[in-house]
Amino acid sequence: MKKVSNVQLKARDTQSLEKRIVENVAAQELDLSQWIFDGLKIENGSHVLELCCGTGAQTFSFIKHVGNNGQIVALDISREALDKIASKLDERELSKVVLIESDMDRIEEAIADQGIKSPYFDLIFCAYGLYYSTNVEQVLETLKRYLMPGGSMVVVGPFGPNNGPLFSILKQSGVIIPEYVAFSSDRFMPDKVIPWAAVNFQKVAIRTVVNRIKWDSLSQIMTYWTSSTFYSPDKHGAVEKSINNHFKKQQYFINEKWIMMIEMTNAR
Ligand SMILES: C[S@@+](CC[C@H](N)C(=O)[O-])C[C@H]1O[C@@H](n2cnc3c(N)ncnc32)[C@H](O)[C@@H]1O
Repeated sequence: MKKVSNVQLKARDTQSLEKRIVENVAAQELDLSQWIFDGLKIENGSHVLELCCGTGAQTFSFIKHVGNNGQIVALDISREALDKIASKLDERELSKVVLIESDMDRIEEAIADQGIKSPYFDLIFCAYGLYYSTNVEQVLETLKRYLMPGGSMVVVGPFGPNNGPLFSILKQSGVIIPEYVAFSSDRFMPDKVIPWAAVNFQKVAIRTVVNRIKWDSLSQIMTYWTSSTFYSPDKHGAVEKSINNHFKKQQYFINEKWIMMIEMTNAR
């Protein structure tokens, strides 16, 4: 069996994911989901594969966009996350969705188990999850084989100075951001995804945005941090103190989410 790190365990924890989403969505300047879907072309009847779907932040929109004849195959390693999605769907919506509990590193097996033969999908999508793969290139190669002519693969994730203000106040309080987390946040999209896309697709489109998250209380920041993959319990008190000091001087703490969407399109 593959050894699973503490960071990976935290990344798969559905309650932590939901807490982070609540704190971001309530305080974000821009509706991230809206921004993502503004950049996607989804035709009626499309077949969509979504990796790392989590609790459905994008899945529910896919269900609406594909119309009555479309299909969403949504995969996540967390059964709890998939159950959350299923619990929010009515019978008609459920008939359009296949929820698969699997490690994305076993994507080929997971898709074959559904009797799906390549090529099949018009859109293959993954937001905030691809960096959890231990073999990104192999996953991307497999996905490409399942893509229909004219179809697109879309990866959304952070880059560059993402989370800069938050990382900075945490570091000042003695927190060490694990190297793997720092790499996923900063370099994964430009170093891993873009080069692979450039070699494998003739058409690659990149969109970026900076979403400001305006928190006005200690509890919002602490809830986000304690639910994150970079929480360190031994620095809890020191971080609380630094954030309290910040709020004595300023009304808001503004974090920045640097977001990149890479769209790779197959020739027809
Ligand atoms: C940050 S969440 C993103 C969820 C959703 N896409 C969103 O944007 O809200 C990452 C998701 O990836 C899932 N995940 C982590 N490692 C995985 C793996 N190896 N295979 C499949 N899913 C994984 C987690 O369970 C979690 O639901």
